[in-house]
Amino acid sequence: MRTFIIRARKGTTRWDKIRSSIGTKEHFEVVAHSVINAFFVSSDFRDDVEIYIILDSSEDFPRTIKLSSNDGLSLAGFHEEAVLELVEKALKDSPGLRKDETKIIAPGLQISGFGFEKLVNNLLETRPVYLLDKKGDDVRTTKFEEDPVFVLSDHLAMPAKSIKGLKRHGLKTISLGKKMLFASQCVVIINYELDRAGY
Ligand SMILES: C[S@@+](CC[C@H](N)C(=O)[O-])C[C@H]1O[C@@H](n2cnc3c(N)ncnc32)[C@H](O)[C@@H]1O
Repeated sequence: MRTFIIRARKGTTRWDKIRSSIGTKEHFEVVAHSVINAFFVSSDFRDDVEIYIILDSSEDFPRTIKLSSNDGLSLAGFHEEAVLELVEKALKDSPGLRKDETKIIAPGLQISGFGFEKLVNNLLETRPVYLLDKKGDDVRTTKFEEDPVFVLSDHLAMPAKSIKGLKRHGLKTISLGKKMLFASQCVVIINYELDRAGY
């Protein structure tokens, strides 16, 4: 299993605002492109991949949407619209979701009433978790452990405060080089490096 976490710092939890956050300062297209690159290759859909989308911009508490190919996820195509549809559906079909509650919306699509710290802390209990960070260890010299989890932010920096505590719990950092890339480009490179290394 390979897992990606994309933290959308400006990602809205209002389903009716998702579409209008494409191409604006919220840059929700970063999330859509990351999802597409996590799952799709030419003429195929990857097994053993999951992506968590964390929507931080909320009036009450953040939401975490999980897409999972092994649980029967269906995306209507490899375009932004297909991803928006799923995110909207998850939010629209979970009115009254309580804090910390998880609801299965459709095969391979679920939503939870919690955010970044809780998700990463939970995963750190059983999985190796790597934060994508320009100043981290070189990806080419890193020997990945089984079932890795990769954490990225969207177009905004990851808040240093939330990372400090997670590092104490075992969060590692990896770098893809000196250039600051789009999150979606990082997803492509990680998939490529893992494919080449035979994971
Ligand atoms: C567009 S960048 C964020 C830019 C933001 N202004 C900042 O200063 O962090 C999105 C995310 O991709 C990852 N990333 C981008 N370039 C990277 C690199 N060369 N090595 C490792 N991770 C990278 C990081 O997780 C980063 O937070």
